[in-house]
Amino acid sequence: MACGPGRGLAGAMTVLVLGATGRTGRLVVAGLKARGVRVRAVSRSAPLPFDWDDPGTWGPVADGVTAAYLVTPEDPGFRAGRVGSFLDRADGIRRIVLLSGLSAGYGSVPMASREVPVRRPGLDWTILRPGAFQQNFVTPPESGELRLPLGPRPRTAPIDVADIADVAVRVLTTDGHAGRTYDLSGPRALSYAELLEIASRRGGRPAVYVDEPVEAWLARMTARGVSEQALNWSLETFEAIRRGVYARLHDGVHQVLGRRPRDFADLGARHQGATVRCRRTAR
Ligand SMILES: NC(=O)c1ccc[n+]([C@@H]2O[C@H](COP(=O)([O-])OP(=O)(O)OC[C@H]3O[C@@H](n4cnc5c(N)ncnc54)[C@H](OP(=O)(O)O)[C@@H]3O)[C@@H](O)[C@H]2O)c1
Repeated sequence: MACGPGRGLAGAMTVLVLGATGRTGRLVVAGLKARGVRVRAVSRSAPLPFDWDDPGTWGPVADGVTAAYLVTPEDPGFRAGRVGSFLDRADGIRRIVLLSGLSAGYGSVPMASREVPVRRPGLDWTILRPGAFQQNFVTPPESGELRLPLGPRPRTAPIDVADIADVAVRVLTTDGHAGRTYDLSGPRALSYAELLEIASRRGGRPAVYVDEPVEAWLARMTARGVSEQALNWSLETFEAIRRGVYARLHDGVHQVLGRRPRDFADLGARHQGATVRCRRTAR
């Protein structure tokens, strides 16, 4: 059943959703609409285009909106200053939810730098820092192997994108979240072997985790043309996974929604047809 937005920005709000064709964005759009909130859903391929690389697209999407869900590209080369420039242009926005990542918590520049422009006086900002998405692990790799230099028994507590979206919708439509940063994880840490075992059962083909020497991984990725910047960011993330940073549990979902996050073991039933990627790990 649809329910109305909270008293804070009341029913008059129009929420701009960036990355509206993406994994969290499309669920945020649906969640807001279900609550009767007006939504402006944009991305490069949306009918109303928005491109972080083209400031000419920023004005038309920003006019008349009072709140926004901000998604930035995963590209580590993304220039964080654009977030500030966009907010300067979108001066009617009073409430912002930024999708960041757990890596900002240990000072990793690509995500931490995107948070800085959002923390501005006069703005009702909230930052979401999820770990790895459960959807990254949903289908076993076709090769039957996930080869990464993460150590012998890496673990992570991935979060369902549906929980991130639920949190974003609640924060956008109710008061009490201004100036808060929520770290988000799933309900339990699983080893990569366990994640692949669950994905294998569901996907009908076996897959195993292989602890690949970092030099071999670097050689493979370099041969594929992955940029040095992307390699360095991945290595930084791998190091954090090896230290167990992504296996820690965080209570952001409970703080905002008052319930437990969804479990990876139940994911298949919930997200048939979700985007499938096993290549990435976390941010
Ligand atoms: N994957 C993870 O495990 C993870 C974990 C923590 C944080 N994150 C962060 O979550 C964010 C979303 O990542 P994702 O990989 O899951 O992406 P996604 O939300 O599935 O897709 C990205 C969205 O952004 C849009 N987009 C891409 N480039 C754009 C550009 N230059 N200008 C405007 N819109 C653009 C895409 O639509 P169009 O192509 O139509 O523009 C799409 O709607 C990233 O900042 C990532 O670092 C990811």
